Amino acid sequence: MIIPDEWARAVEHIQQDDRSLAKVMVVGAIDTGKTTFCGLLAKSLWQAGWRTAVVDADLGQSDIGLPTTIGVGVVENWFDTLSEVPCRSAYFVGNVSPVGHLLQTVTGTRLMVDKAISWNCQRIILDTDGLVDGPSGWSLKYHLFQLVQPDWIVMLERHEELASLKALWCRSEKVKILPLAVPPSVRQRGREERKKFREDRFKAYLPLCQFLDLSLQEVRLTNASLGMGRMVPLEEMRRLLPSSIDPESFLGAWQWGRKVTVLAESVPSAGILTVNDLEWIFRTPDEYEQVVVGLLDAEGNLLEVGITFRLDWHRQRLTVLAPRKEQSAPSIVYFGRYRITLSGDEIGTLPVDAL
Ligand SMILES: Nc1ncnc2c1ncn2[C@@H]1O[C@H](COP(=O)(O)OP(=O)(O)OP(=O)(O)O)[C@@H](O)[C@H]1O
Ligand SMILES: [Mg+2]
Repeated sequence: MIIPDEWARAVEHIQQDDRSLAKVMVVGAIDTGKTTFCGLLAKSLWQAGWRTAVVDADLGQSDIGLPTTIGVGVVENWFDTLSEVPCRSAYFVGNVSPVGHLLQTVTGTRLMVDKAISWNCQRIILDTDGLVDGPSGWSLKYHLFQLVQPDWIVMLERHEELASLKALWCRSEKVKILPLAVPPSVRQRGREERKKFREDRFKAYLPLCQFLDLSLQEVRLTNASLGMGRMVPLEEMRRLLPSSIDPESFLGAWQWGRKVTVLAESVPSAGILTVNDLEWIFRTPDEYEQVVVGLLDAEGNLLEVGITFRLDWHRQRLTVLAPRKEQSAPSIVYFGRYRITLSGDEIGTLPVDAL
């Protein structure tokens, strides 16, 4: 790897900061060298004796923690790449892109920064995703800045794609901006390579997993309209729905606002019906299978990432592939919007309102 002089100078600048706590946010479009720079900085700060943490807020090309999560690790040994820093804690967002999940991404990032502070880390490096374009990218980075309150921002830029963020942040007296050019040696990765990276991360995780048979009486399903809102009694469905639809074949129905989600073994051909000013959305249990989920404790802390295998409503069971930890039974199953097969091949992402 070639370390450009200006990268070395930026690291030196940050090294000279002698405050007891300093947070460094690294921002840039995709393939601009963010992660490489974070690794370089983390090693230098660790070598200089600072207790250094790295928060990896890139949901897709995650080095610390699995894709779909925001991971945080503390540097304890020399490493070649950031992925060697063990993940100590993670926040489950549930997708491999922040689009449609901006709130979850900023919340999770802030919580992981707070974790690092609670571990008495003195230097916190925040690696971010490459979404900087348009209103979503701008909004995500702007609100990350507001919540994390970094002391330093490293901005890796090719063609002024960070201009509107820079124009704002350079007004602040609290933060120091270090603009850096993207070295020509930074390699650009295509869609397939990015997908393979995510799959490889899950394929390395799956051997640690086994089938967990969760009782729906004991865990709460969340972030899916299934089970959210008011349970609609069978007699009410009988009264409201056309007689051509037999409610006896339904497993359950929940009204949330003007929408009613009906879980059924098979769905009417229309899929969605509008009856009585309500939108009836029919879903089958298999739509909730092969979905990446967060197994959370009652406080919402991520215990493990899992992949749903079978939703058996009759037996009130959800089978999930996840590492088994005797001491921590999950209390909440938080549905993500990323689907993979049980062997780790990517199926795709789901729209936010898909489940
Ligand atoms: N200074 C450098 N010299 C040589 N290669 C580099 C340098 N910086 C980055 N690279 C290579 O370029 C590629 C992209 O770099 P990196 O992963 O750091 O970028 P990124 O901005 O974090 O990408 P992403 O948007 O996917 O998170 C990697 O293969 C990395 O090894
Ligand atoms: Mg990166």
